[in-house]
Amino acid sequence: MATMTQDKALAALRTVDDPDLKKDLVTLGMIKDLKVDGDAVSVRVVLTTPACPLKDKIKADVVAALEGAGASSVDVTMDAEVRKAPPRGPAGQNGAAARAPRMPGVKSIIAVVSGKGGVGKSTVATNLAVSLTRHGATVGLLDADIYGPSLPTMLGLLNRRPGLNSDEKIAPIDRYGLKVMSMGFMLKDDQAVVWRGPMLGKALQQFIEDVEWGELDYVVIDMPPGTGDVQLSLAQLLPVTGAVVVTTPQDVAFADVRRSINQLEITKTPVLGLVENMSHFVCGNCDTPHMIFGESRVQGHATKLSLEVLASIPLDSVTAVAADHGEPIVVASPDSATSKQYLELAGRVAQKAAIEQHKKDSQAGGFAGFFAGKPKA
Ligand SMILES: Nc1ncnc2c1ncn2[C@@H]1O[C@H](COP(=O)(O)OP(=O)(O)O)[C@@H](O)[C@H]1O
Ligand SMILES: [Mg+2]
Repeated sequence: MATMTQDKALAALRTVDDPDLKKDLVTLGMIKDLKVDGDAVSVRVVLTTPACPLKDKIKADVVAALEGAGASSVDVTMDAEVRKAPPRGPAGQNGAAARAPRMPGVKSIIAVVSGKGGVGKSTVATNLAVSLTRHGATVGLLDADIYGPSLPTMLGLLNRRPGLNSDEKIAPIDRYGLKVMSMGFMLKDDQAVVWRGPMLGKALQQFIEDVEWGELDYVVIDMPPGTGDVQLSLAQLLPVTGAVVVTTPQDVAFADVRRSINQLEITKTPVLGLVENMSHFVCGNCDTPHMIFGESRVQGHATKLSLEVLASIPLDSVTAVAADHGEPIVVASPDSATSKQYLELAGRVAQKAAIEQHKKDSQAGGFAGFFAGKPKA
């Protein structure tokens, strides 16, 4: 006699929480295709990101809960669907008025920012974007550094020109599994951009509205340094899910980072965390990390600001050389320790972004609507 029922299975699943979102999987709408056949249970769990680092834990918890409730066998399929930002209402970021979403098919937008140039924003943005695809996500990469676009070089796309599609929209260039757009694609080699503030905002708006981004889980935005017009425009134009702030250990005063964080607060952009780049040097001969800039103070600063250090990426000649040859390190040397760190970083960023999205969803009135259908109970 079978003892398992749909109700029992659902009750068991209600005891399993998503550790990040701190609610149970049934309430979160993550349980799909629940089937009970005798005492055998099969279920599909739809997480909020394919890059979820807790995937294995959640799966194990589901199996344990169902077995604990009497299932003789449990078949769990782990699936993911990045939740979409609610359309921006009158109470949206910056109090912007309600209007149609500008990247309608894009679910989550991640800005990579820093207080100053040369700290590795573009390096982190490209490697993060490619790493998100390795987790199974669909990803776009927008170079918003209008004056100093470096993605064409870093991705080996110099002198490439994007085409126009039939709707007169600009088609982003496909590279390493990413959809890429950069001001660099619009300029000749030595041409300098001489636009001022309002035109910068316009250029960014074009990259957002006139480019056919299509359906994507994430768009990573490589921001220009500092706290200027582009940063403000971005927050007005898009519901940015969160920002990753890149810093180096040399930034002793941390003043630039604070300025960036202040601006993010003013524009109501959540900070997902810090990435410490060029944090130390790992010697190829002795394999020992050398703290060439002395002990890092980044962690100390982060703690004071209640922020997390999401990764500490070493100074690494492969990173620089590969980038000069148009390949992010995660492409040039996917098995390197640095590439593994980027893969982990992508997981943590996705996790943090899902938490921010969840907060927004809750404020916008619950999860209904973000997941079609109820659990089949
Ligand atoms: N971890 C790293 N190790 C070695 N070189 C790096 C590292 N991160 C960045 N670089 C190099 O430093 C330079 C500046 O990096 P970039 O990403 O362009 O900074 P930003 O976008 O902040 O101006 C580039 O030449 C890049 O290849
Ligand atoms: Mg850059």
